[in-house]
Amino acid sequence: MDLNNNLNKILIIDFGSQFTQLIARRIREFGIYSEIISHKKINANTNKTHIGGIILSGGPLNVYQSKKVKFRKEIFKWNVPILGICFGHQVISKELGGRVKQAKQREFGFAKLKSLSKSRLTKNFFNKKGSNSVWMSHADEVTKLAKGFKVIAKTETSKFSIVENSSKKFYGIQFHPEVTHTEKGKIILRNFVFEICMLKKNWSPSNQKKLLIEDVKKIVGNSKVICALSGGVDSSVVAKLIHNAIGRKLTCIFVNTGLLRKNEEIQVIKTFRKKFKINLIYVNAKNLFLRNLKKVEDPEKKRKIIGNLFIKIFEKYAKKIRNVKYLAQGTLYPDLIESKSVTGSQTSKIKSHHNVGGLPKKMKLKLVEPLRLLFKDEVRKLGLELKLSKEIVLRHPFPGPGLAIRMPGEITQQKIKILKDADDIFIKALKDYDLYNKIWQAYAALLPVKTVGVMGDNRTYEYMCLLRAITSEDGMTADTFNFNKDFMQFVSNKIINNIKGINRVVYDITSKPPSTIELE
Ligand code: XMP
Repeated sequence: MDLNNNLNKILIIDFGSQFTQLIARRIREFGIYSEIISHKKINANTNKTHIGGIILSGGPLNVYQSKKVKFRKEIFKWNVPILGICFGHQVISKELGGRVKQAKQREFGFAKLKSLSKSRLTKNFFNKKGSNSVWMSHADEVTKLAKGFKVIAKTETSKFSIVENSSKKFYGIQFHPEVTHTEKGKIILRNFVFEICMLKKNWSPSNQKKLLIEDVKKIVGNSKVICALSGGVDSSVVAKLIHNAIGRKLTCIFVNTGLLRKNEEIQVIKTFRKKFKINLIYVNAKNLFLRNLKKVEDPEKKRKIIGNLFIKIFEKYAKKIRNVKYLAQGTLYPDLIESKSVTGSQTSKIKSHHNVGGLPKKMKLKLVEPLRLLFKDEVRKLGLELKLSKEIVLRHPFPGPGLAIRMPGEITQQKIKILKDADDIFIKALKDYDLYNKIWQAYAALLPVKTVGVMGDNRTYEYMCLLRAITSEDGMTADTFNFNKDFMQFVSNKIINNIKGINRVVYDITSKPPSTIELE
């Protein structure tokens, strides 16, 4: 995939490593644009302009599986610096005449790297004793160097841990500099980008803003655009960006399902309609959703009902705006990358709620996806650049079906009210105690179980509230957050003292896997 934005970039050729996106993010953090392309997509037609350097990722294959490793040797003739990481290192060695074999001893985890020779790649990387702790994960190893290469560093079990051909600017490293376990790993990547590829910074939130606004103008021209605004980070940034580009030709549709966080609709209207003067259609569909969800307990049924209803409402209001040609979507870069597919085990990603499935075709709309170049952390920074408030930009993710999937069992007006209040107390406490931004996602859920309690001299028989707080990189895996007991007790007391209907609070300590982040 070539995004054609005319920026000098590092091209990352992906062999299916779980760390490929991390490499791209690291490079972008340096202020340099980077793009990921599957190794299967490199061919004679690949656009070679603006490639300032190439990184070959790691991967689960081994270099002898020549049928699966569809790799084009021509990159070695493109006259750009190349850095191979782990499997990428082995590919370079094999393709250029060296040898790769299954290692006698596999190397996983930490290893001590020893410097043997100076290199631009390792400038300021080794400690005074000429060593460093690096993170390895490989079963094969290079056993014979390719012609023109020399050894820069080794570990006890892997004698060609860093190699280089300095005249061609080809480098290979067996360890993973992109993971935080490798001490000063970023220095290796930084040296490659600035000392070897000699790239100049071109990727900053202000630059992105300019570039993406131009992009939107170019794509939509004078046409009208509609956008499903959910109040979440991605759709808020999309709306503000497109508004900056085309102003009143954008109309946002915001559907209040009744399943939003407490006062969310008030904040959305205040920000987008009042502050930014964006055309906003507010649809209060609380009762409609509640009616359709009556007596429904099955999680998948809940999701289907909410999804279908949302599309129906959106369609109805979108039709009222004449001459609309485009639907704006908050598709992010990770949604577009065809990575991890070398082993055929691509994990399916959950598409967010404002990716209003099926609509574009049905309504003959074209898509405009202004965030398609960005990772989530970049979207947040861009949001701040666009003057969206920290409250919106740093907000935890919230699922499309909303509170419905945080309330196992039947959904009632009374339960929604209890849950909104409990969640609000928990989230406010996290903010007051400076914990909110240390947590990837946190929420309260209402369990359909009543238990006995005692308040004052009275027996109570009320619902149980579950609190969940996790840390994560991307929501695909997650760990529970460790609170101290005082904080937990403070939140528990505050919920029970303030909310009639809850007399017990529990904390969910399961990671993902085996549990999911949401309850349903
Ligand atoms: P799970 O529960 O699958 O959630 O571990 C992973 C992340 O995805 C969010 N999530 C959704 N987001 N529509 C969304 O926009 C959905 O239907 C949906 N289901 C889960 C969840 O909040 C978490 O961040």
